Amino acid sequence: VKRITTATLQKMKAKGQKISMLTAYDYSFARIIDAAGIDVLLVGDSASNVMAGHETTLPITLDHMIYHAQSVVRGAPRCLIVVDLPFGSYQGNGDIALASAIRIMKETGAHAIKVEGGEEIIDSVKRIISAGIPIMAHLGLTPQSIYKFGSYNVRAKEEAEANKLKADALLLQEAGCFALVLEKIPAALAQEVTQSLSIPTIGIGAGRFCDGQVLVMHDMLGINTEFRPRFLRQYLNLHEQITGAVKQYIDDVKEGGFPTDAESY
Ligand code: KIV
Ligand code: NA
Repeated sequence: VKRITTATLQKMKAKGQKISMLTAYDYSFARIIDAAGIDVLLVGDSASNVMAGHETTLPITLDHMIYHAQSVVRGAPRCLIVVDLPFGSYQGNGDIALASAIRIMKETGAHAIKVEGGEEIIDSVKRIISAGIPIMAHLGLTPQSIYKFGSYNVRAKEEAEANKLKADALLLQEAGCFALVLEKIPAALAQEVTQSLSIPTIGIGAGRFCDGQVLVMHDMLGINTEFRPRFLRQYLNLHEQITGAVKQYIDDVKEGGFPTDAESY
């Protein structure tokens, strides 16, 4: 199979073909999603929430991200695999940022990393790119800064923040980032940014004009049912289906209906 690369995404934008991206954290789901034809898998630090049960993405470590990424890489032979650098592994120090990115590339076999922020982290971005490591940037609602924002509300509704986001997007493109995630910003702003850039934008809660879309796999499959923001389309209700299957299994075991003779040796 031919691997999707950062160059493939560039061509897709140029041709007006939309880019599909989902998160994955483990081998089994990565295998299903890759075989279904996804363009990009993100080993997101949302693993901190959906895999580890933390309230925010801040606690997850570089070692944890590497473990998840190794598992995803083993399951996904086709798509481009991007790994989030976790909180604390790249901000404010280009040497540390480069060391973190190199660990991801060396120890996992993934193809790119993702970082949150613009001008504040541009030195780290340049250091990492100087080593030949592709970067997907991430602006708007950047969850690693949740304690700065104070809420998960839509970002960049005011002109000052929108202007900074537009400037950051250009700065990140100039630095050599190959794509940009835009999270929870007005659709009109995402459209403007998308048109101003030659690199693809991937939206989550950023409207239909982005070059691609991303969702957290557990949310779109309905494994989490408490998290229901407007932007989230739930394609399955796995929570309900798994609950039904588990209840049926419990009943079968309790009533002696499982296993049957045919299921025994
Ligand atoms: O960690 C994550 O899942 C993400 C996506 C929501 C873009 O960063
Ligand atoms: Na993330």
